[in-house]
Amino acid sequence: NSSSSLSLNRPAIHFTPDKGWINDPNGLWYDAKEEDWHLYFQYNPESPHWDLPLYWGHAVSKDLTVWKDHGVSFGTKNESDGAFSGSMVIDYNNTSGFFNASVDPRQRVVAVWTLAEPDKQTQLLSYSHDGGYHFTEYEGNPVLDIDALNFRDPKVFWYDGAEDSEGHWIMAVAIPQKFSVAFYSSPDLKEWTLESDFTDKGFVGYQYECPGLVKVPYVRNTTFASTPNSNVTSSSPLSFNSTESWINSTSAAWNSSSVWNSSHTNSTLLNSTMFGNETVLQEALEESGFAWVLFLSINPGAPQGGSVNEYFIGDFNGTHFHPFDDQTRFVDLGKDFYAMQTFFNTPNQKDVFGIAWASNWQYGNHVPTTPWRSSMSLVRNFTVTEFNPNPNTTELVLSGVPVIDYSELRKNGTTYSIEDKQLSVSDSEVIELEDPTGVFEFSLEWSVNATNVKNYVFSDLSLYLQGDKHADEYLRLGFEANAAAFFIDRGHSNVPFVEENPFFTQRLSVNNPPSDYTSNTYDVYGVVDRNIIELYFNNGTVTSTNTFFFTTGNYISSIILETGVDDVYEVSNLRVNQFYA
Ligand code: FRU
Repeated sequence: NSSSSLSLNRPAIHFTPDKGWINDPNGLWYDAKEEDWHLYFQYNPESPHWDLPLYWGHAVSKDLTVWKDHGVSFGTKNESDGAFSGSMVIDYNNTSGFFNASVDPRQRVVAVWTLAEPDKQTQLLSYSHDGGYHFTEYEGNPVLDIDALNFRDPKVFWYDGAEDSEGHWIMAVAIPQKFSVAFYSSPDLKEWTLESDFTDKGFVGYQYECPGLVKVPYVRNTTFASTPNSNVTSSSPLSFNSTESWINSTSAAWNSSSVWNSSHTNSTLLNSTMFGNETVLQEALEESGFAWVLFLSINPGAPQGGSVNEYFIGDFNGTHFHPFDDQTRFVDLGKDFYAMQTFFNTPNQKDVFGIAWASNWQYGNHVPTTPWRSSMSLVRNFTVTEFNPNPNTTELVLSGVPVIDYSELRKNGTTYSIEDKQLSVSDSEVIELEDPTGVFEFSLEWSVNATNVKNYVFSDLSLYLQGDKHADEYLRLGFEANAAAFFIDRGHSNVPFVEENPFFTQRLSVNNPPSDYTSNTYDVYGVVDRNIIELYFNNGTVTSTNTFFFTTGNYISSIILETGVDDVYEVSNLRVNQFYA
C-alpha cells in the first residue's frame, strides 16, 4: 500500500514548504535593514506535483539554516498561466520610479519574472513596498516580449560603470530551445536593450534554463596554484576591475558590438594566450579579486540523467560575457542540484551565496514525501579558485562550501571521532550516534598507500550510514583506489519508490582527485539532513548532492567504516557531529 511508502523524513536545515509542490529557487535577496534572507520559489501549495497555476512562494531566514514558510507571495491573474522563475533586485536609487522616500532604500525590491502563458513567455516586473511580503504588478508589463513560446528565467544584477559612465542593469535570460542566453541592459528595469548573446556553448541537452551571471571572488589556492614563473612579466595587460576589460582592450574583435545572432567571435587570445599562460591569468585574477561566472541549467539531457547545473568562468565587460576556455564545468555532480540561483546582496558585498532546487525533473514529481514535495539545497558560498584535476594541470574551478549557522545545531553535541587508523579487512570502526536526529555533519580524511593497490582487486574504503530502526536501510559511501572515484549508493531502502523508479539512480560516483598528490591524501565533508546528503570534496571544488529515502522515522544512527583490502587505507580522521535542529 502506498501510504506505507511515504517518507516523512522532512529535512530540518534544507527548506521545504509546509505543504505542496516546489521547484526552482527564485528572487533571492538579503534585507540589510531587517537582517533577513528572502527565498522565493516555484510553488503550487495545493498540488503534490508541478501544476498550474504556479505561484512564487516565499520563505525567510535569519541564519540561512532554518527557514520560515510564508506561503504564496504572488501569482498570475489567469489560472492557466504560471509565474515562472526569475530574480529580485534591490533598486536602491529608485531607477524604476516605483518607490518614494517612505521605502527604505535597502528594501526597494523589484521582482523580474516570467509570465508563462499557453502560447508565450514574457518578462514582467512586480515591486514591493513592505520589504518583500506583498507585491504590485507594474502596469506597463510586460517589459520584454519577443513573441516567443520559450523565453524565460530572467536573472538581473547591477553593473557598475566606470567613474565617467553610469552603471546599468543587466539581465541574463534564456531562450531555452535555441541554446541561447540573451544579455539585455536597462537604465530603469523597464526599457531593455539587447546587448549580446551566449549561444550554443557548453553542454546543451534539450534546453537551457535559469541562467545567471555573477561576479565571484577569486581566492588563490596556494596548494594548487602553479608556481609563479619568473619569466613572465609582472605588469599584466589584464585589468578586471575597470569597465575597460581586457577582452575589449586586447581583442579588436570584441570591440565591435555583437548583434543578435551575429557570428560568434573567436578570440584566439582567450583560447591560447590565456590558458597557455596560467601565471598571467592568476596574477590578473589576483589583482582584480574576482572572475565572472555564468551559471546555466540544462534539462533534460544531463550526463548523469535529467537535470544539471553547469558554469563557465570568464570575463564580462558590461555587455558581453566571454569564457576563458571551452570547458563545460558542472556545479554539482549529484542528481539533485538544479536551477541554482545566487542572492542579490549579501552582508559582505563580495560574497556570492546560492541555493539550488535539490531534486531532478526525472523524478521530482514522484518522490515519496508528503504533504510537501522536494526541498532546496543548503546555501553555498562560491569562490573561484585553482584545482589540479591531475598532477600536470592547474585549472580554475568554482568552489562551493555550505553556509550553515552551526551555533545552535551543535549545541549539546558530542564530536564522535576516529583518528589515525590504519585500516585492515578485519577492522570495522563504528560510531554510534546517541538519540539520532537524522541530521549531522561528518568529515573524513584518508590517504592511500598506492604501492599496495593491485589493479585487479576492488579496493574500497566504505562508509555505511545505517538507519537506527531498520538497519537494512543504509547509504553506502566510499572511495575506490583503482577507479580514483568516490561512490554513493542510495539503493538500500525499503521505500518502493527507490526500487521502482528507474530514474532514481541508485549508484553514482564522482571523480575524486586527491587534495594533495604528494601524500595521496583525500577529504570529504558531508551534511546529512533526513532525506538528503550533500558531499563536498577538496573544499567544495567537487560536490555531489543527492536525496535518499528511508522508511518514516528511520534516522541514521550508525556510521561504520570498513575496507576490503589490507594496508591500503589510513584514515587520519573521521569526525561526526550530530545536529539538533
Ligand atoms: C526550471 C524551470 C524554469 C521555469 C520553471 C517553471 O526548473 O523549468 O525554466 O521557469 O522551472 O516552474
